[in-house]
Amino acid sequence: ELNRSLQAMAASFAVTDDKISEIIKGLHKSMKTGLDHDDPDALPMIPTYVNGRPTGKETGTFLALDLGGTNLRVCQVTLKGDTTYSLVQQKFTITQEAKESRLWDFIAECVGVFLEEHDLRPAPGKRTIPCGYTFSFPIYQTGIASGNLSMWNKSFTVPNSVGRDVVNLTQSAFQRHHVPVEVVAVLNDTVGTLMTSGYSHPDTQMGIIFGTGTNAAYWENLENIGKWTGPDRKGEMVVNLEWGAFDNATEVLPYTAHDNKLNRKSSNHGLQVFEKMISGLFLGEVARNAILSLVDQRLIFAGRSSEILNKSYTFDTAYMSEIVADASPDLANVKVVLEGTLDIPPTTLIDRKVVQHVCNMIGTRGVRLSAAAMSAVLLARPELLTSTVSVGIDGSMYQFYPNFERNLYSVSRVFLGEDFVDNRLKLHLAKDGSGVGAAIVAMTVDRDRNR
Ligand code: BG6
Ligand code: GLC
Repeated sequence: ELNRSLQAMAASFAVTDDKISEIIKGLHKSMKTGLDHDDPDALPMIPTYVNGRPTGKETGTFLALDLGGTNLRVCQVTLKGDTTYSLVQQKFTITQEAKESRLWDFIAECVGVFLEEHDLRPAPGKRTIPCGYTFSFPIYQTGIASGNLSMWNKSFTVPNSVGRDVVNLTQSAFQRHHVPVEVVAVLNDTVGTLMTSGYSHPDTQMGIIFGTGTNAAYWENLENIGKWTGPDRKGEMVVNLEWGAFDNATEVLPYTAHDNKLNRKSSNHGLQVFEKMISGLFLGEVARNAILSLVDQRLIFAGRSSEILNKSYTFDTAYMSEIVADASPDLANVKVVLEGTLDIPPTTLIDRKVVQHVCNMIGTRGVRLSAAAMSAVLLARPELLTSTVSVGIDGSMYQFYPNFERNLYSVSRVFLGEDFVDNRLKLHLAKDGSGVGAAIVAMTVDRDRNR
């Protein structure tokens, strides 16, 4: 009975190579439509107003603000002009209250603390300190320093924000809190990652976040961005795909009952459905649903759960990482997580093996879909595949999920070709990339303003 259930579950979480090819095709179609015009059924493909590649020679010290899905970082970044940089940063965990209501004031307070602790003030003769702002949510940009929030995700729900300019909202909070900072550039975290990687590796074509959420940005020729109405038609611009929003109608993606359950109960039901199969905020919850379905069939834990496991989002994706990585014969770490952390009654070795197997199914599916998305973007620019290509990546899944990078390479080989992946594709961790990227873009804007 247990074996039959596990086989059925494994089949439902499997993504075959054929399925990935279908997904890549679907992504291409959706990217093309999104580049041509805004369409609620296609990818947002947002032009970012970032149109100059970093050279690695940029110099100067800049303030950067990095609002991720879990942390707010305030950084002072020094670009050294020799492709290296250093940074002083303070990390603030974004409180639940900030995620639900007083985000803008929270940001202003954190920046205020940073300025005070590092004794920073505007340069002589200036009233404000210029700042690059990484904003890791979808905004429709109306300029390099302005953009309207299209929606919240990653469990943020701050009211009175959707449709409004996030730079204005932040700037007003700075005024309320007497924080002398001016946002001169706003960018997505994927754009920051792309720029940071490009600062050290000039052949960078793409920036990706595999973290709490997932998304990517890449360099596109302006002539391919049909919906771009700005004055320049030649040259390149970074496009923010917002690929987490792929296939919200689940026409191609193999959604299971466990995914549907998560989606239905989420604050953004029916949105970001691809992200919900890939990123760190959600994988543990899909696993929790799958594990509970086995408990309900009385196939594991003698049919008993725990109060903790019964609550949504208690099975953190970090626990999945620990469980998947446990190679001890009696799965001692799995035991610690299940019995110690989650308070499940004493488990058998079979229970623990089953949980590890379930986590593996969901983690493997995540990395295969991640590779599908990365491959789709690179295949959309086939001319790139003849030379070396660097991809800057950041986020907790990439950094901490066991073998994530190795699997990303090995799955991509099937779709991008062994020769390209083994010899020319370079994946780089762009650690804290968003903050550095924000400083790079802010520097360019500041330089152009003072010309
Ligand atoms: C950080 C970036 O390093 O990575 C953030 O500075 C980004 O902007 C984050 O959102 C993604 O990682 P995670 O795992 O915190 O979502
Ligand atoms: C979500 C956001 C996107 C961000 C990603 C990674 O998908 O919509 O803007 O880049 O998370 O943080």
